[in-house]
Amino acid sequence: MTSGSLRGRTIVIVGAGPGFGHTLARRAAAQGATVVVAARTVSRVEEMAEAVRADDEVRRAGGTAIAAPVDATDPDSVRVLRETVEGHTDAVHGLVYSAFAVPSMKPLARTDHDQISAGIDLSVLGALRTTQEFTALLEAGAAGPATDAADAATSSVVMMASAVIHHSRERYAGYKIAKTALVALGHSLATELGPRGIRVNTVAPGYIYGDTLKAYFESLAGKYGGTLEDVYAHTAERMDLRRLPSEREIVDPVLFLLSDAASAVTGQTLTVDCGEFHT
Ligand SMILES: NC(=O)c1ccc[n+]([C@@H]2O[C@H](COP(=O)([O-])OP(=O)(O)OC[C@H]3O[C@@H](n4cnc5c(N)ncnc54)[C@H](OP(=O)(O)O)[C@@H]3O)[C@@H](O)[C@H]2O)c1
Repeated sequence: MTSGSLRGRTIVIVGAGPGFGHTLARRAAAQGATVVVAARTVSRVEEMAEAVRADDEVRRAGGTAIAAPVDATDPDSVRVLRETVEGHTDAVHGLVYSAFAVPSMKPLARTDHDQISAGIDLSVLGALRTTQEFTALLEAGAAGPATDAADAATSSVVMMASAVIHHSRERYAGYKIAKTALVALGHSLATELGPRGIRVNTVAPGYIYGDTLKAYFESLAGKYGGTLEDVYAHTAERMDLRRLPSEREIVDPVLFLLSDAASAVTGQTLTVDCGEFHT
């Protein structure tokens, strides 16, 4: 176990992808949580939930996983997700918003406004509408018993930003606009929901070295010449630790923020990037 136990907690992951999302689901369930994995591709979240349920560590910890479809850009779909979750439980203790689609990756001069709007709709408004839809369930989660009688119980929203918020490289402009607005949203939600026992934080990974990033690095290698390893080495040169964070290394700080170990942490952005930016 890497941080406080999530035994008996319900954690909803919106935008649960095959790398970070799956690893988070497995590690949370291995701490005894019931994890709801939600995204648009039903077959993928169903396979993910099945794999989590079949994991030995998860079984031993008494955790489990449930798959549910959701399109975070569609208010009706988010409402249906909330109703599905309510069919299983009357309290949610953690909500992770991770939905992501590859942004334009062009300078602003060549990015049309519709692409910027789509990024904001998915990253920012998706996080807002999901948090709003789950606020009552999260408040019910915060009303549960605290692990330490001296502390107040809280529930936790974690929204996945990116270390793109710390730089202004040309091709990342559309992505930066959306993720920076997401951080601002996290601050405002933390202020608004704190009195109801709900903490809100963002995590800003530099990179998550898994299949999504490998595919992107492969495409860069194809475009500019060289190999996947060349792109990795060139990128890692900027990091203090001379390497990129693994999926587990991004998941563990998220588990910390979901846990009672972070019961006084809210309104923060935790950068996890092997030391590229000192924030
Ligand atoms: N990978 C990196 O190096 C990196 C670096 C910095 C920050 N991040 C951030 O970390 C988070 C996780 O990244 P990742 O690499 O795990 O991403 P990912 O593999 O692309 O997973 C994100 C998932 O979001 C789902 N999604 C897309 N649109 C959606 C929608 N409208 N409604 C619901 N779900 C939707 C997609 O599944 P469906 O298509 O099935 O819906 C996708 O599998 C993202 O927020 C990303 O911005 C990633």
